[in-house]
Amino acid sequence: MSKKVAVVTGSNKGIGLSIVKGLCKRFDGVVYLTSRDEARGKAAVADLNKQGLHPEYHQLDVSDKESISKFRDHIQEKCGGIDILINNAGFAIANNIDFSYDFEENKKIIDINFKSILTIQELIFPLLRDNGRILNISSDCGHLSNIRNKYWADRLSSKNLTLKDILEFVDWFLEGCKNKSLKKEDIADGGTIAAYRVSKVALSAITILQQKELLKRNISVNSMHPGFVRTDMTKGNGFLSVDQASETPLYIVLDAPDSLKGAYIWYDGKAVDWYDCNGEYYFKISTYIEQLVSAVKKQNI
Ligand SMILES: NC(=O)c1ccc[n+]([C@@H]2O[C@H](COP(=O)([O-])OP(=O)(O)OC[C@H]3O[C@@H](n4cnc5c(N)ncnc54)[C@H](OP(=O)(O)O)[C@@H]3O)[C@@H](O)[C@H]2O)c1
Repeated sequence: MSKKVAVVTGSNKGIGLSIVKGLCKRFDGVVYLTSRDEARGKAAVADLNKQGLHPEYHQLDVSDKESISKFRDHIQEKCGGIDILINNAGFAIANNIDFSYDFEENKKIIDINFKSILTIQELIFPLLRDNGRILNISSDCGHLSNIRNKYWADRLSSKNLTLKDILEFVDWFLEGCKNKSLKKEDIADGGTIAAYRVSKVALSAITILQQKELLKRNISVNSMHPGFVRTDMTKGNGFLSVDQASETPLYIVLDAPDSLKGAYIWYDGKAVDWYDCNGEYYFKISTYIEQLVSAVKKQNI
């Protein structure tokens, strides 16, 4: 019987790298560390090798169809299939956390965090083996309560949600940036990091559709918020280390009961009601600023 295979996207650093580390220790099979930049990926593998861990490596830029296609061919030839797929690669913002109409920047965020999943669905999902597990690393920014525009919150809440709904939601946002019709009030927390919120809401929404599609093959598809984690993305701020933050993703793909399907999961491992727009699940930029201020204060002591 061929060996089981686990793949983690964007895993040369941060939470993804820590998930690879955990899989190398616990998963009975081949673990793929992938990265868009080959040198960064190979450096991460070399570092793990020094710790006695031996993942396989392959280049994978999730926003580049050709790169995904090459990775698909490689897996098909070498392994024949995938049992665990963790869509972790993500991009937040360069510098600007304020509400911004910057179309190019916002489109880039949507492309990496959400549109890439459509290509992965097209090219990589056919390689998934029955009873496999997919985990989409979303965010608290991916909870539906981040969307304050009533029309879109209602439409995304529909039990008959379709891909068309999600694609039109994303287009509404990008068009609104282009023609400046988007309002700050359409997005939670004064429209801060709006594109990131929209991309992650779309990611958690498509998780629901992917689960419906793959249910007949007993493949689990969940999305999760990994917590506020000290990585480059948060400029080193957060409540959790990467190793603490990788515990729940590892639990979901290795230990969770088979019944955990189509859920939106919080960093403590509990499933949260994604539709609860009155809940306090959405990300508040004040949390981030408080952390930054306290880090600066500590440096100055
Ligand atoms: N840290 C947090 O507090 C937090 C909170 C909620 C959600 N998340 C989510 O958790 C995931 C991991 O984030 P992190 O905090 O570990 O961030 P990170 O340290 O910045 O790592 C992000 C990873 O994604 C990779 N990446 C970016 N664009 C890519 C692309 N086009 N193709 C392939 N890989 C790409 C990066 O590669 P390069 O090194 O080449 O840039 C890097 O390896 C992301 O999806 C993020 O949105 C993080």
